[in-house]
Amino acid sequence: MISNSLREARRHEEIAAQLIPDSARPSFHLSARSGWMNDPNGFCFYKGKYHLFYQYYPYESKWGSMHWGHAVSDDLLHWEYLPCALAPDTPADQDGCFSGSAVELPDGRQLLMYTGVRTAEHLPDGSTLDVQTQCLAIGDGVDYEKYPGNPVLTGEDVPEGSSIFDFRDPRLWREPDGSYRCVVGNRPADGSGQILLYESADGFHWRFVSVLAENRNRYGLMWECPDFFELDGRHVLLVSPQDMLPSGFEYHNGNGTLCLIGDFDPATGKFHEERDQAIDYGIDFYATQTILTPDGRRVLIAWMQNWDTLAIASLRAPWFGQMTVPRELSIRDGRLCQWPIRELEKLRSGRVRYENVKVEDGMALEGIRGRKVDVTISLRPGDPENVYNKFAVWFGQDDTYHTALSFRPGESILKIDRKFSGSRRAIIHQRRAEVPQTNGVITFRMILDRFSAEIFVNGGSQVLTATMYTPQSADGFRFFAAGDVRMDIEKYDLDV
Ligand code: FRU
Repeated sequence: MISNSLREARRHEEIAAQLIPDSARPSFHLSARSGWMNDPNGFCFYKGKYHLFYQYYPYESKWGSMHWGHAVSDDLLHWEYLPCALAPDTPADQDGCFSGSAVELPDGRQLLMYTGVRTAEHLPDGSTLDVQTQCLAIGDGVDYEKYPGNPVLTGEDVPEGSSIFDFRDPRLWREPDGSYRCVVGNRPADGSGQILLYESADGFHWRFVSVLAENRNRYGLMWECPDFFELDGRHVLLVSPQDMLPSGFEYHNGNGTLCLIGDFDPATGKFHEERDQAIDYGIDFYATQTILTPDGRRVLIAWMQNWDTLAIASLRAPWFGQMTVPRELSIRDGRLCQWPIRELEKLRSGRVRYENVKVEDGMALEGIRGRKVDVTISLRPGDPENVYNKFAVWFGQDDTYHTALSFRPGESILKIDRKFSGSRRAIIHQRRAEVPQTNGVITFRMILDRFSAEIFVNGGSQVLTATMYTPQSADGFRFFAAGDVRMDIEKYDLDV
């Protein structure tokens, strides 16, 4: 039943993972069991546990022929690895099992839908033309069988003139009447992106419904990894656009993320967008996927890395690629807000709190340190008539390394800078976001977990995410001020 390539992947990961001590991984963020991880896949709740699959190349810490890694959890923070779920081993997916999603079938089996990649042509410049189709696998939560009828969606099922080479990342869900829908990323004749909507009565036989949304060359080109759901009475479309051009402080060059908020018209199968925003304003974030938890929370997870900053990876590391902390979503004042899942609060211990501290340039505070911490900082001017120029906090800090977060109230700009965070490459190390202040106050919650920092600004209305691959002994916090700035700070240790 199990193909040679899957057996080999399972054998390899089992041995390779034993050589990676827990202390060399993030503590509560999921990382590649061995080798390489990118997008989250098949995020779902099945048979009493959360399942998270991921784009996976178990053999090396770089992207390769795509498998699906697999892990389960009771609380989305303590993860247990399961054996590799999918390997490229059938004609439709012989060159890769790309991103996809999961639902439960009425008979209790689990249905995975993913993109099968098959190289159709080798071009003179060394690149390939890969045909992408949508495929199915059915399983019990550990072992999966590829559906003999694969592929179930092909180039025949895209609108006239649309690409069969960029047709990927099916996001599957069930409607209240038990029927199935999926959205898939695609490239129309204008070369940018579009999201296609399909429907099925049984999950196996699919029919094109509509072009749900069109990029029309506004936000980058191809749209990858769509997700589409209802949230707080609105409809939300999340995509990861490739090849973005920048726009103010909202969108940056390269691979970005986009949230569109609007309404869905079931009669036409069209999404009417009203507002747009970036999903994350930091450096290392791409390819989101969400789940509806049994208690009704919409929770997002993403690849805590970005194709444009991969040079930060060390090929010598035994694993590369981590997921973000799971984030609860809501819509507040017309914006998508994210907040670390409440389960994280159960990992907290060792509270340290200071109030109304006047920040002295270069100061440290007793008890405020660590690389697995949950820190909330709130800032306000000491003198509202003469507002300070700049505040900065360095974290993950020692004599050699630090990651910096700085805030200039005059411009209302928050900047993350990981230039001194161990990178040996000339890639992007800084990013700025325009963040509102309420009566001069700005608050941010920082979640650190050994190799990353996620900064939730003003109750999660903006988030900045960055990785930092520095020694864990670099665990200091230092504070800097130009002018009179007052700070409240609260820190908890986080441990699984
Ligand atoms: C996004 C992506 C997907 C694709 C997968 C391949 O990061 O490019 O579009 O399915 O990664 O690993």
